[in-house]
Amino acid sequence: MGSRLVGYGSYLPEKIMTNQDFEKIMDTSDEWIVQRTGMRERHFARDDETVVDMGVIAAQRALERANLTIDDIDMVVVATTTSELDFPSVGVQILGKLGATRDQPGFDVRGACTGYIYALHCARAFFTAGMYRRIMVIGAEKMSRFINWDDRSTAVLFGDGAGALIFEHSTSSYSGIIDTVVMGDGKSFDMLHGTPDHKISMNGPETYKKAVTLMPEAASYIMEHAGITADNVDWIIPHQANLRIINSGAERLGFPLEKILVTVDKHANTSGASGVLALAYGMDNGLIKQGQLILYPAFGSGLTWGAALIRV
Ligand code: UT7
Repeated sequence: MGSRLVGYGSYLPEKIMTNQDFEKIMDTSDEWIVQRTGMRERHFARDDETVVDMGVIAAQRALERANLTIDDIDMVVVATTTSELDFPSVGVQILGKLGATRDQPGFDVRGACTGYIYALHCARAFFTAGMYRRIMVIGAEKMSRFINWDDRSTAVLFGDGAGALIFEHSTSSYSGIIDTVVMGDGKSFDMLHGTPDHKISMNGPETYKKAVTLMPEAASYIMEHAGITADNVDWIIPHQANLRIINSGAERLGFPLEKILVTVDKHANTSGASGVLALAYGMDNGLIKQGQLILYPAFGSGLTWGAALIRV
């Protein structure tokens, strides 16, 4: 039992924070940020705008595009680690706000920047088990809430936003979520984590070293598992944490630059929303076309890493 993508939607908050805006409030420069990360701007949610609010808009847009209502969806799984409330889940809150009446399940997965791959992994498992007909996968994050404004090495890196993908079961195993792999290493927890007072703590250079090896490893593994090579893949959409990490990984895997989809310049690192937002950006802008094969590697706090293969 496979799946196919029937709708997508995204939401980016109105407020844009540029590198120049950071220059005004901390000891940093546009030149440093662009050179070291490839980032130029990021979106920041309003104080009163929540992870749930952003997820709801992305979900509504995906439903409209798929010509469905929330009651056509059997399960909602949300990748997020920045929910304002510890409970209930963002997933069940989104179902409530969208007026679901079927008592469908909604829940969250906390895979940090690999969260959307963990969510896709869950969706694939439920489709494989034949349990649901339609599943909505959402990535929604308000990273700006976790910024440590006294730490310039992490403050400039993150952005807010949400993306939603709706998959429907299919008898073809060559469409939708074709394959997924997820990994975790809790022993390296110290490298990158949230603190109890809601701040990001990261050893950048150590995290960088892990990211440039583990993302390509996950991508190679999934290509080998699916019996394909870089030539068969139309787009590689790596987690958008740093342009240097993206380019180095793609080079290791033998992907030409024109096959790499980059949004880190516009969105910065939106953690669990990153890949979903990037996929929506690619489709909105006519870069990604129906039927194309996408390789989706990601890496993040945990440590967690993994990859997905999706045909849109
Ligand atoms: O999404 C989850 C996974 N996250 C990642 O994969 C992030 C991985 N890490 C990185 O992307 C990079 O390590 C960073 C972008 C975070 C940092 O880049 P780097 O090239 O590793 O810089 P660094 O931490 O080694 O710092 C180099 C210098 C330091 O100055 P000194 O000691 O050489 O004088 C820093 O103080 O750059 C300085 N620096 C800054 N300068 C201006 C650090 N942050 C800034 C800043 N503006 N914002």
